[in-house]
Amino acid sequence: MKTENHIRNIYKNLSIEDYYQNHDYHNPHFGNIEYLIDEFKNIKTFDNKNILDLCCGNGEISNLFQESFVTGCDPYTFEKYKLKTNNDCLSKSFLDIIKTGLDKEYDFIICSYGLHLCDNSLKSNLMYTLSQYTNNLIIITSNDNCIKNINWWNLIHFSEFNRTKLFYFTTKSI
Ligand SMILES: C[S@@+](CC[C@H](N)C(=O)[O-])C[C@H]1O[C@@H](n2cnc3c(N)ncnc32)[C@H](O)[C@@H]1O
Repeated sequence: MKTENHIRNIYKNLSIEDYYQNHDYHNPHFGNIEYLIDEFKNIKTFDNKNILDLCCGNGEISNLFQESFVTGCDPYTFEKYKLKTNNDCLSKSFLDIIKTGLDKEYDFIICSYGLHLCDNSLKSNLMYTLSQYTNNLIIITSNDNCIKNINWWNLIHFSEFNRTKLFYFTTKSI
């Protein structure tokens, strides 16, 4: 909790862009995320799957999918991500994705600790656009508000570890 308050205070003084471009962000919930993803791999295989890591940061979450082909996407950390992971990375923001779409279809899109940064007014459009590029969406967050108004998607699986939550959605057409 102390770390979350610390990050909120930094946001007050810096723009989101400044913060993520100029700080080496490390997710304080990483251990929980690793646990939840390991557990989820008993339900779904990621072997040889194409994954888009949306809001990829420095690539900590991408590195949990060594069996897959992962592309990052982040408007502020894409250069760092490419250096740290050797993966490709799109530089699109949520708004860019809504306006211009993604580069291709993906087996999974995963967004870990990123959706709280999407303005509520964009959420429904973002969810619609993502549904045009994947049938499988994984959202990881500690913030329940993030998964409000996830239109266009069906919640299939939910798991929680130490207040970190994993939500797995598929498109309604499946
Ligand atoms: C809390 S970090 C999460 C990083 C990583 N996914 C993780 O779980 O450790 C949030 C990420 O969202 C990115 N971000 C901030 N604003 C964004 C926006 N408008 N569109 C897309 N990504 C954004 C930041 O650059 C940052 O890398």
